[in-house]
Amino acid sequence: MKKLDMVIKNGTVVTASDCYKADLGIVNGKIEVMGSGLEKYADKVIDAEGKYVFPGGIDPHTHMDMPFGGTFSSDNFNTGTKAAACGGTTTIVDFAVQPKGKSLKDTAKIWREKSDNKACIDYGIHIVITDMNEDIMNEIPEIIKSGYSSFKLFMTYDGMMVDDDTLMKTLTKVSSNGGLTCVHAENYYVIKYYTKKLLDEGKTEPKYHAISRPDLCEGEAAGRAIKLAELCNTPLYIVHNTCEASASEIARARKKGYPIMGETCPQYLLLSYDNYEEPDFNGSKYVMSPPLRDKKNWPYLWEALKNNTLQAVSTDHCPFFMEQKRMGINDFTKIPNGAPGVELRMPLMYTYGVLERKLTLQKFVEVTSTNVAKIFGMYPQKGTIAIGSDADLVIFDPNKEVTVTQSMLNENVDYTPFEGFKLKGYPEITLSRGEVIAKDGKYIGSEGRGKFIKRGVPEII
Ligand code: URP
Ligand code: ZN
Ligand code: ZN
Repeated sequence: MKKLDMVIKNGTVVTASDCYKADLGIVNGKIEVMGSGLEKYADKVIDAEGKYVFPGGIDPHTHMDMPFGGTFSSDNFNTGTKAAACGGTTTIVDFAVQPKGKSLKDTAKIWREKSDNKACIDYGIHIVITDMNEDIMNEIPEIIKSGYSSFKLFMTYDGMMVDDDTLMKTLTKVSSNGGLTCVHAENYYVIKYYTKKLLDEGKTEPKYHAISRPDLCEGEAAGRAIKLAELCNTPLYIVHNTCEASASEIARARKKGYPIMGETCPQYLLLSYDNYEEPDFNGSKYVMSPPLRDKKNWPYLWEALKNNTLQAVSTDHCPFFMEQKRMGINDFTKIPNGAPGVELRMPLMYTYGVLERKLTLQKFVEVTSTNVAKIFGMYPQKGTIAIGSDADLVIFDPNKEVTVTQSMLNENVDYTPFEGFKLKGYPEITLSRGEVIAKDGKYIGSEGRGKFIKRGVPEII
């Protein structure tokens, strides 16, 4: 046997299909061998006795350094990916937002300037198309070939939303060139109607953000986008599903055999409309779109993960300091939309998914890593523990008990929506391409070591 760079011994290896005790041998950042008694072949050995070894988490939905409403999300690619690493995530897929009048190539370039040599874990980039025209449409094949194989379209937000005609054209063009279209599903006109009514009535507090965008507003847009995808005979991925109204539209389409996929986020599984009632403008912490819902949606969403209606759990990590949130102290429409979450996704999903809601360990791996790698064209380089795959691994201590506080986290923001949450199980060591990059909640890797992942064809699952 040739010399190994590192061995992780005695761990319980969990993949989307298996759970077994094995040593893992790593060479040049990749899994070289699995077996027993491997430690004699390496100088560097990590003992994972009593720990799970999971594939590194992949968060398919983050917003680092993103412009929104006159400010920028407060984590950049450096701080945000360090926080991700500390929480067991080894790859993110961030959204590059097309500035008006810029090409898709320029959009990708702008995001690569933010990310290259700054990100500390590997990253892919989706392109958000906000300014579609014939030239942009014609750029799609080339941009997919360059590794930006997924696109997001907004069905709401002034200045970003697309109409149904554009959505249909994009679905068709993207799919016929081997890419995947994602949508943010909310009905623009419903929001406009309620927002005006509420503001006219002098209702300006954060909770009215949620009241202005009810669950049916999301369900209607999701159902419409799905039907357009059905008409175009293309796949579609719906981001950040919050409620039964939208996830049931996906369930309906999937039952008929249509290639419709979607994600939800920990905040929609664990937080609710009640959070908006917190006093002293604290409701603004949860101002995100779509908003938190009535907790009666929780069982449906958990079940949707179990029965594969939803395939992934992302965070929609988009943090703003409370000072930034205060831009909307007198008007909920001016509160920057978004909340932090990239660091806690894996431990929250373990405690509240595996332990409390009885997700199997395999399902946990599927929704936090494997399915994401498949859907977004990174599998099997990422998303599994197999010979030849990148050694992106989390050594996870299932017995570590933690009460979440903002001060223990590495996210560049002054609150966490999950303050006080009790966790059992936390990442102990995170490896990216065979390098130990985080240990006991601290980033210890080198600066800017993350690599751009040129993504390929999406898998429909
Ligand atoms: O409120 C959110 N989700 N902010 C980020 C932008 C988006 O819609 O994903
Ligand atoms: Zn969105
Ligand atoms: Zn988002």
